[in-house]
Amino acid sequence: MPRSFRAELAAPGGKVPVRACELESSPVWLFASIGEYPVYDDVAYEAMINDERRMSAYTEAVRRYAPGRTVLDIGTGQDAVWALAAARAGARHVWAVEVIPESARIARKNIEKAGFADRITVVEGLSTEIELPEPVDMCVSEIIGTLAGSEGAGSVLRDARERLVKPGGVFIPHRSATTAVALDLNSANLGTLPGFPPLVFRYVEEVFASVGRPFDLRVVLEGLQDNPRVRQRSYLSDAVEVEPLEYNGDLQPEGVDAVELTFTRAGRFSGLALGVRLWVTEDDEPLDSLVQSSNWTPVYAPLSEEGLPVRPGDRFEFEFTTTMSDDGVHPDYALVGQLQRASGPAVPLSWGSTHHGDGFRETPFYRSLFPAP
Ligand SMILES: C[S@@+](CC[C@H](N)C(=O)[O-])C[C@H]1O[C@@H](n2cnc3c(N)ncnc32)[C@H](O)[C@@H]1O
Repeated sequence: MPRSFRAELAAPGGKVPVRACELESSPVWLFASIGEYPVYDDVAYEAMINDERRMSAYTEAVRRYAPGRTVLDIGTGQDAVWALAAARAGARHVWAVEVIPESARIARKNIEKAGFADRITVVEGLSTEIELPEPVDMCVSEIIGTLAGSEGAGSVLRDARERLVKPGGVFIPHRSATTAVALDLNSANLGTLPGFPPLVFRYVEEVFASVGRPFDLRVVLEGLQDNPRVRQRSYLSDAVEVEPLEYNGDLQPEGVDAVELTFTRAGRFSGLALGVRLWVTEDDEPLDSLVQSSNWTPVYAPLSEEGLPVRPGDRFEFEFTTTMSDDGVHPDYALVGQLQRASGPAVPLSWGSTHHGDGFRETPFYRSLFPAP
């Protein structure tokens, strides 16, 4: 049984009590979804560099498309990996844009050290606010979040297409979509929901600080991907896709998707694991965060604390809505649905997750995670 204890987080406006757990006390534990906030550190960048599937799919794609082309790398990060890969592959010139000043500074140093300062120009700022001397032939970016568009890929890449890339220019990645699978979290972690291990506190504090107040931040489930047995015990259905984002096609950052999950196993339905599928190029098999170890961790959408009993053939019908938050870049998500069981009346269920909305302790899940003082 996971052991939980109470701790405190620093937040604008004062300390916030939090439910915490020891790291090794549960096969599944919570982390904050951080990629959509400017809180990247060495650990976060390293996790991306160590994601071998991601690295090899992108490296291959850049080697294929960059030779002889001008390239825009949006969100180059401190390692400038795709900018350097493009320059090494023979790109004519690379514009490497990065919004975090410290990451841009380190990227510049790494590019100089690698001997590519004449072929790569680092531009500090948001891609949506910069100008280039002329539109480029191709755009590479990895601003894919724990959900397909949660880091702003939809709106940022649409802006790039309209202003910074030549008509018909190539986009890497090609496509991403959010995925959803029904989850029995109780059987996955053998009892009560754990909280955040102490190593997560500073990330939650930084997200609160970047937004300016504590709020019901998006959480992810660590431990599901790396552990096939836990996954087998906890996934109650096959996965469905929502929030399709076509970077080389009709790119729609907002939308409503009506879908249905059919339960394939009996269990207690506690919520959804939401992941991301990423097609780096059109002919690649997608990277899939619900079933592969990766730097993208499944988001937890809690729907029922105790879990609703379900049997094979029962269904969860829902609408998944993506709307742009007022920063014009990061989406807010909402899900409204009905559990349809052979055994009884339909049960309405819902979940919402904003990028920086002001709701705090709005649902039983968050009242348990952030207990009142
Ligand atoms: C997921 S990391 C990827 C870093 C690196 N490209 C890689 O793939 O390893 C995303 C990076 O993009 C930056 N970023 C996100 N949106 C951006 C935008 N619109 N303009 C500039 N930088 C952005 C973030 O600050 C972060 O450093």
